[in-house]
Amino acid sequence: MDTALAFSDNVTLGSLGGAPASRVLARLVGIGKNYGSGETAVAALANASLDVRAGEVTLIEGPSGSGKTTLISILGLLLKPTSGEVWLEGKNVAGLGERDLPPLRARNFGFVFQGFNLFPALTALENVAIAIQMKDPSRKDPRGEAKRLLELVDLGPRLHHLPADLSGGQKQRVAIARALGGNPPIIIGDEPTAALDTKTALSVMDLLRELASVHGRAVVVVTHDPRLERFADRVVRVEDGQISAIDSANASKEHV
Ligand SMILES: Nc1ncnc2c1ncn2[C@@H]1O[C@H](COP(=O)(O)OP(=O)(O)OP(=O)(O)O)[C@@H](O)[C@H]1O
Ligand SMILES: [Mg+2]
Repeated sequence: MDTALAFSDNVTLGSLGGAPASRVLARLVGIGKNYGSGETAVAALANASLDVRAGEVTLIEGPSGSGKTTLISILGLLLKPTSGEVWLEGKNVAGLGERDLPPLRARNFGFVFQGFNLFPALTALENVAIAIQMKDPSRKDPRGEAKRLLELVDLGPRLHHLPADLSGGQKQRVAIARALGGNPPIIIGDEPTAALDTKTALSVMDLLRELASVHGRAVVVVTHDPRLERFADRVVRVEDGQISAIDSANASKEHV
């Protein structure tokens, strides 16, 4: 195990400014995951290893059921691996109990999902502010911070709209602003563009690319859409529970 990893100092990423060098923020080593036991046991992942670096967009592609959601759920500390190591903040955290995980998860990750998962009765501003408050109850002026994040994703004119009064792309931008609450260094998306039309999907991906290139976030996105590859630094292919290839994409430099 390479112990000379340059893990993130979250404080330096806190301002959403500047693009730090490509530091490894998280590392999966030899991850295996079995669901269930006995006759119904499913080996969802075997020996999967992956580095997640600041400033990079990593796409995860593969057929349905290949293990993509399982992989990013283990990365995001939403799911415990059966075997292997999860390195974060300079430690292997794979063995930590549920009591220790929430603060680690909140400090390091923001999540974006296909279905947006916004509270329908809350405005865009309230959706983001409540997430900021849940991550850090001592945070002063969560609404001011929510406004700043919504302006960052170009939703300044929609602060007081309810999700039902926003387009799909705008809803996903609210979800991205929410994911940025607390300034986590790693943004994880599980098919965040799957519910959007092509043009909107590309603009959401452009925003995620910018969060990596301009703001130094590590962005890890599961997708079925090969058109998103041009936004990526790396494409990780998952097949039948194995990482079958990690390709360096090249066209992404256009976006930097
Ligand atoms: N909670 C669970 N219990 C049992 N098996 C599961 C569970 N979650 C996932 N699996 C199985 O693990 C394998 C990988 O599932 P996973 O959800 O990671 O795939 P995926 O690549 O994200 O698929 P999709 O593209 O359809 O979202 C599949 O065979 C799935 O049926
Ligand atoms: Mg999935």
